[in-house]
Amino acid sequence: MNTFNSTTIRRDFPALQQQVYGKPLIYLDSAATAQKPQCVIDTVNAMHTQWNANVHRAVHYLAVQCTERYEQARETVRRFIHALSAQEIIFTSGTTAAINLLAFSFGERWVGAGDEILVTEAEHHSNIVPWQQLCARKGATLKVAPVDDSGRLQTDALAALIGERTRLVCVAHISNVLGIVNPVKEIVQLAHARGVPVLIDGAQGIVHEPVDVQALGCDFYAFSGHKLYAPTGIGVLYGKERYLEQMPPWQGGGDMIASVSFAGTTFADLPLKFEAGTANYIGACGLAAAIGYMESLPAAEAHRYEQALADYTVRRLSAIEGLRMYGAATPKTGVVSFTVDGVHPLDAATILDKSGIAIRTGHLCAEPLMRRFGVHGMLRVSPAFYNTPDEIDTLTAALQKVRKMILF
Ligand code: ALA
Repeated sequence: MNTFNSTTIRRDFPALQQQVYGKPLIYLDSAATAQKPQCVIDTVNAMHTQWNANVHRAVHYLAVQCTERYEQARETVRRFIHALSAQEIIFTSGTTAAINLLAFSFGERWVGAGDEILVTEAEHHSNIVPWQQLCARKGATLKVAPVDDSGRLQTDALAALIGERTRLVCVAHISNVLGIVNPVKEIVQLAHARGVPVLIDGAQGIVHEPVDVQALGCDFYAFSGHKLYAPTGIGVLYGKERYLEQMPPWQGGGDMIASVSFAGTTFADLPLKFEAGTANYIGACGLAAAIGYMESLPAAEAHRYEQALADYTVRRLSAIEGLRMYGAATPKTGVVSFTVDGVHPLDAATILDKSGIAIRTGHLCAEPLMRRFGVHGMLRVSPAFYNTPDEIDTLTAALQKVRKMILF
């Protein structure tokens, strides 16, 4: 393993310096939310202490400064994901809001009775439920592409499910349970060959893969800031301008209008048409700071380090008797999910917690996938570039102890 995960990197993250229950915190739940580097905390603080004023409204100094910073943040996101134009970057409160926005607005414009939306069996609830709700509203049908026993998405089956009535294909870039990187470019190509647009849920993908929405060719890409070392409550829906232009606003209110009268209202141009109410400009600036932090790291080295750490986690955990991992297919990154025979995931996670080890447990917001693998819940370890092989060794030893405590 290379030496990327130096103490220098960890020093950037104040939350990692603490102890819990008198033990050094071992934070292995970054797929749920990542810890924040000092520069993000400082940016959020500066926004509150120096630059706070509502955006796009007043002409006073602070309002202008704050608006500039908000729009610069939009440009930072555009550059980061290689979108053609900043008009295509809609700030939302996170991936969930981005997908709900799309489900409502795309659905109003293009989905009717008898139409179909295609998702996969490995989606997070936030890329299932909004589509179920849309289908219920419109009399449309949700189709589901399967994964095999190794967790690999069956792209042939997915292709076969794209028909005359398919209006949108919705697929995760990286599964939040299996860590498997889906062949999203190939999926976009096969959907486009049938004239169907594609949404990529990038909640995990944006963290572990370089994202170039133009190279991917996707029509929509949704992600959250908080998994990308930014504050909570900020996220992005990228959409191709030609779609966004034709979609109706999903919420009405201030900032999203051109003119309001009781005779009728006209709407603002993109992107503000989709940003009703006071924007989370502080979160957006925090997101820009997080992107700046990511860009300050040697990207290839960080990526190699994270991959090596995930592979090391798989190797170390594989040695534990009775431990079953899910998602053997590759490429795989970011998360390792498993169960231990005879041990309830909640019991294991509770005991690990008392050793200062934070991992996620439960259905991982993916109940259909739990059912696919015949379990009620799993344990999930999600190492980031601020974790170390020593922490994985401590986790492994603690899991061995958990087995002994519960089974013997
Ligand atoms: N979506 C987040 C997770 O997978 C919360 O843990």
